[in-house]
Amino acid sequence: MQYKQLTDLVNSVRIERVLDHINQLAQVGKTERGGITRLAFSEEDRQARGLVIEWMREAGLSVRISPIGNIIGKMHGDRSDMPVIMTGSHIDTVVTAGKFDGTLGVIAAIEIAQIIKDNNISLPCSIEVVCFVMEESSRFKIGYAFGSKVWAGQLITDELLLTRDRDGKTLVDAIYEMRTRELGSKENLQSQDDIMEAVKDYIVSSHHSSKDVRAFVELHIEQGPILYSAKEPIGVVTAIAAPTRFTVTFLGEQNHSGTTPMRFRKDALAASAEAILAIERLCRSSNDVVGTVGVIEVNPNTINIIPGRTQITIDIRSASSTAKSEMFTSICQEIKQIADNREVTFEIHMLTDDTPQPISEEMVSLIERNCLKLGIRSRRLVSGAGHDAAQVARIVGNTGMIFVPSRDGISHDPREWTDGPDIERGTQVLLLTLLDLAQTAE
Ligand code: HGY
Ligand code: MN
Ligand code: MN
Repeated sequence: MQYKQLTDLVNSVRIERVLDHINQLAQVGKTERGGITRLAFSEEDRQARGLVIEWMREAGLSVRISPIGNIIGKMHGDRSDMPVIMTGSHIDTVVTAGKFDGTLGVIAAIEIAQIIKDNNISLPCSIEVVCFVMEESSRFKIGYAFGSKVWAGQLITDELLLTRDRDGKTLVDAIYEMRTRELGSKENLQSQDDIMEAVKDYIVSSHHSSKDVRAFVELHIEQGPILYSAKEPIGVVTAIAAPTRFTVTFLGEQNHSGTTPMRFRKDALAASAEAILAIERLCRSSNDVVGTVGVIEVNPNTINIIPGRTQITIDIRSASSTAKSEMFTSICQEIKQIADNREVTFEIHMLTDDTPQPISEEMVSLIERNCLKLGIRSRRLVSGAGHDAAQVARIVGNTGMIFVPSRDGISHDPREWTDGPDIERGTQVLLLTLLDLAQTAE
């Protein structure tokens, strides 16, 4: 494709259409408190998925939905025997989320399909736009990047499938219900065992083979402060951090809050409080690991009873496996010390221990070259957030991520914001990168 044709194509990105789609999706799951809550496999998720499928079809993509729910829109290239180029992200959100996390990558990918269709561009290989199901772990604590993990053929344990949300629904039931609702499956299994078996079949038949995919590129907001504070328009991701998540349950002695002298207390909540501050102290002293305790359960959670049992859920992240496992060990040692000092017992239960994912130098420099072609500055950076691209990269070596700035580095919050011009530039860099990959496909 001639340079002139390329730049005309890049300049035909219609940012108002991208923003309109983002804003339409933002209405689905909008909460009175502000922000969006569109949890995976919820009614809001189903509505939003319906919009994405409609927009994919308008953009000329032929849409299929894998049994566990990944939506894949395909634009057929000249040669169907060639591995495809993929792009996409997720549209499920955290609780009271912003409107760009994940959705930007799906909507921008659909915009690119629309442009290629409108300009009658024929490409040697096909391009697939994917909307992975359940990237966020807000509904099912250990469900992070579920759809892309299944896509990449990663192990899905019974423990994960039987994880319950706050209403007590299991992930396996949520998947089965969506399949029967959205895919119009006629089967109406009743027994839990049959449903479990059926969903396990869905998982296996939703695997993708790496030989079918030549490359995957995901456009995403940075969700951190680096690009915005450095006033850089594009981030080229060099590695994707991964979470290690685990619970610590403290077992003390429930007792009367008025009659129990302080020296006799075995207060599980006080132990948890000390542990939370210890985790913060340990992570503050590290340059490579961040740690968060975002969930605490207190029993019996009553004003005049000394808590006998508490559980905290810990999320530590790093782009370095070594740093992360060393931090896990340090945290466990501190927990033991706290429990001994307070004569309480504790149990540690691992929820997920994901491996950080480096991005190939080849892909990083390809994206940088395309920024240069467009005269757009870029900078390399590590992703502190986890992404679908990290799962795809487990089987597709040619995987990359393009970041655009998050105002004030805020995300997973209604204040999450990225300016239109930044979204336009990110979409243009993604377009050029996908075309580059498609045209050099052998
Ligand atoms: O938690 C994360 O890093 C992402 O938002 N799933
Ligand atoms: Mn997120
Ligand atoms: Mn995301």
